[in-house]
Amino acid sequence: MCGIVGYVGQQSAGPILLEGLQRLEYRGYDSSGIAVLDRDGALSVLKRQGKLRDLEAAIGVMPPGAAGIGHTRWATHGTPSDRNAHPHASSSGDVVVVHNGIVENYRSLKALLDAAKPERARSWQSETDTEVIPELIARELNQGRSFVEAMRACLGLLHGASAIAAFHRADPSRIYAARKGSAGGIVIGYGDGEMYLASDLPALLPHTATVYHLEDGEIAVVDSQGAVVHRVNQPPLRPVSRQVDLDPVAVARGPYRHFMLKEIHEQPRALSDTIRGRARLDPPSALADEFELSDDQLRSVERVLVIGMGTSLHAAMIGRWWIEQIAGIPADFDNASEFRFRAPVIGPSPLVVSVTQSGETIDTLGAMDHVRDRWGAPQIVITNVEGSEATRKADASILLRCGPEVGVASTKTFVGSLAALYLLACRIGRARGVLDDGELTERLEQLLTAPSLVERGLELSKRCKEIASSYTGAANFLVLGRGIEHPIAMEAALKCKEISYVHAEGYAAGEMKHGPIALLDQQFPVIALATRGPLFDKMMSAIQQVSARQAPVIAIGDEGDAELAELADHYIGVPPANDLLTPFALTPVIQLLAYHIALARGLDIDQPRNLAKTVTVE
Ligand code: F6R
Repeated sequence: MCGIVGYVGQQSAGPILLEGLQRLEYRGYDSSGIAVLDRDGALSVLKRQGKLRDLEAAIGVMPPGAAGIGHTRWATHGTPSDRNAHPHASSSGDVVVVHNGIVENYRSLKALLDAAKPERARSWQSETDTEVIPELIARELNQGRSFVEAMRACLGLLHGASAIAAFHRADPSRIYAARKGSAGGIVIGYGDGEMYLASDLPALLPHTATVYHLEDGEIAVVDSQGAVVHRVNQPPLRPVSRQVDLDPVAVARGPYRHFMLKEIHEQPRALSDTIRGRARLDPPSALADEFELSDDQLRSVERVLVIGMGTSLHAAMIGRWWIEQIAGIPADFDNASEFRFRAPVIGPSPLVVSVTQSGETIDTLGAMDHVRDRWGAPQIVITNVEGSEATRKADASILLRCGPEVGVASTKTFVGSLAALYLLACRIGRARGVLDDGELTERLEQLLTAPSLVERGLELSKRCKEIASSYTGAANFLVLGRGIEHPIAMEAALKCKEISYVHAEGYAAGEMKHGPIALLDQQFPVIALATRGPLFDKMMSAIQQVSARQAPVIAIGDEGDAELAELADHYIGVPPANDLLTPFALTPVIQLLAYHIALARGLDIDQPRNLAKTVTVE
């Protein structure tokens, strides 16, 4: 979703801003822009719809200036266009702003500003909600306030979450940042005689590993020598920075054609790293260290609710299954965006587990707030991003160790989240006395096979490519699974939609004859997930019903399953796994099928249209 960068120092700001924005491209965007200020107050604002290369081409010769802000926009209010792209300036041209988030009350704020200055009523330059921000700041400045006071007053008027970077034309030595709610973060980066701003760490990567994450409600004044943070009703202070660990090599694509392919292949490593030290066999323990909730707290839990969005919701569905099966405790899953606006009955003594690879998904954060405000229940977050907002809201975090995920479609963080949920199920089961030593050891030994299950699944890439080539033109897919494989069917359909732009539905196979079967004919391929688990025979019946409608069947089942291969038009054999572990065996295959369909269709796999890596708007 939208990305923010900022720079103030001795170097030319333009190239640094552009490079920072390039490092945020993975978040997804439809337009971009930079504003650069030189020491004499000459301001250059350059924006373009489309890719950063279009902006770069439009810029031609980089404007001089050692302070600036930049933005990649993902349209929410107003179409992707040059004029809607950020930065936006006040009508005087003095206050320049880039913004992540949504100003929910922008219409009434526009009306307020128009009423105060009727001659300005038709002079809005864009259709965006953002444009009210520089105008509000300028209005406050005109009333004699300092820039910080003006930003504070502006934040007080905005409804919804916002992250803002700004500067004033009269002061090329400073840039400002502010954060209200959870519209993604703002990170301040410390250089040597120069300072940076970014919505995400990768933008700071080549420059510095010393950072400060702006907290909700803080406003930062940043000059080339450092930052001062202003909090409500407190004296300004120099914040305590910290070191982050980001391996530059890990964010490069290496020999892979796409980040998504690289990340699919990184899954065995991501899994091993995430499990390492957390599944001990002698004596057996799961998540024994680094986990802030005690066994006593876990023992008192009577119900677990797992929430998330998109791929993380599919992980949550599988997590629910494991928590019930392994920990023997009632468990449920929920879509965070629905949950947060309901008044569900989640007790008694609930534990809420949020799954969010980014840790910044606004609906998941909203659901966590809902849990805290309404029930005060203990909360755990499973995330790949240390220091993300979700980790600050939760009582305990399980950090994935997947490394940066750049492709917009989640892959390695999905399997990482699965491993974390499985470990959590074991930990709860152990704390509640459901698993004795032998049973816990057995469960953990099973989990330790997950990296090799995925590894062997990756060897099927060529087979996936062959099959994908037969279905490049397909307009639809139905993906069927049962039990623990039903969420994998949903994940397969999501991947087809996201990167291959093929309409696909993931269904519990038992549901097929209650409606979707009406769609089936020779043009409607069905992907059937059918490993030899307890529901295998039921899946075979569903496949028979599909074949009877002449719909082509792509069956994914256990290696060497001649019966399944016979029934299907195409068959892919995955390594046989314990019934609870089949999600790990199936996941690489469904990812690779979607990848190869998208590749054959010539699509932008790492940055699919309309999608964003971190969804910070509702
Ligand atoms: C799918 C995908 C999205 C995310 C969803 C939640 O490939 O990437 O569906 O899973 O936006 O994101 P997180 O996990 O960051 O909360």
